[in-house]
Amino acid sequence: MLNHNFLTTRDWSRAEIDALLDTAASFKREHPGPMLSGKSVALVFFNPSLRTRTSMELGVWSLGGHAVVLEPGKAAWPIEFTPGAIMDGDAEEHVREVARVLSEYCDLIAVRKFPGFQDWSVDRLDTAINAFAEHATVPVMNLETIEHPCQELAHALALRERLGTLENKKYVLTWTYHPKPLNTAVANSSLLIATKLGMDVTLLCPDERYLLDERYMTASRKNAEAQDGSLTVTHDIDAAYEGADVVYAKSWGALPFYGNWSNEQPIRDQNRHFIVDERKMALTNNALFSHCLPMRRNIKATDAVVDSPNSIVIEEAANRLPTQQAVMATLLNTTTPALAPTSTPKRKHTHA
Ligand code: CP
Repeated sequence: MLNHNFLTTRDWSRAEIDALLDTAASFKREHPGPMLSGKSVALVFFNPSLRTRTSMELGVWSLGGHAVVLEPGKAAWPIEFTPGAIMDGDAEEHVREVARVLSEYCDLIAVRKFPGFQDWSVDRLDTAINAFAEHATVPVMNLETIEHPCQELAHALALRERLGTLENKKYVLTWTYHPKPLNTAVANSSLLIATKLGMDVTLLCPDERYLLDERYMTASRKNAEAQDGSLTVTHDIDAAYEGADVVYAKSWGALPFYGNWSNEQPIRDQNRHFIVDERKMALTNNALFSHCLPMRRNIKATDAVVDSPNSIVIEEAANRLPTQQAVMATLLNTTTPALAPTSTPKRKHTHA
């Protein structure tokens, strides 16, 4: 069912993404009122968060709704996701019940569940959020799994606010060093949204082993083709930065070493020079710099870059709030008719 959920921007059209961004921008100009009055949202966090949790809780509250935060395995029961599992391990209940019970209480379920980092062929199935989407009878929203679509919207809005039109601006997603192998979610999402918005996108990474999953490379190439943009891969740092309008930094683990991370460590240790610094930024077209946060200073980017007037890291983080409000209001069909999506969200019943 198109647009019942917000799991990925891959199944939201350019027009639908633009409408979400327009809605978020309108929320920033003028508070939209109690659009979520009488609505409740379950926020299911399997992993830590600063920005996502704060912006979701406050975003729901600010629109007159109520958010319930659940942390399975901590103050909520551990959950099993495997269909047909013989549940003799730690999990006390199955997602089949969890999703349906939460659907009885809440109007929307939002989930953060990072991958397990052991087997990419398993993690790429994104089983947990897809199970929630399959079994819930209310819309489901992705708060970061192997994609981070909410970050995409906040990033896109920040770019739009600074640059105006984004079409054919040179956008560089640069891999950076980090002592640990990190999730590919934000990198996947960066390519998806930058290509969806028609930018000329360069993926800069140490070598072919740091390419992203073919699902995201292919989807991004298709986006670029549809929007008259481009997607280029390079391992040449200076060539990537040359003339860039946007530099987006992120670290991620190389997929061929997934689950065998000790074998990747020497490679990543050799690539500390991918740090975003003043010399590289000087090659750009006065580029904006951003990162999704959290970010290790002077590892991924120097203090001078992060603190420069071209850094939009705080603007991007701030935009999490109105963009997620726009997603929730759209999924729950509580925006004004002019801003409503073309499809009607599935609702089993309405709350008073
Ligand atoms: N960028 C982001 O999602 O931040 P948190 O992990 O703090 O939520």
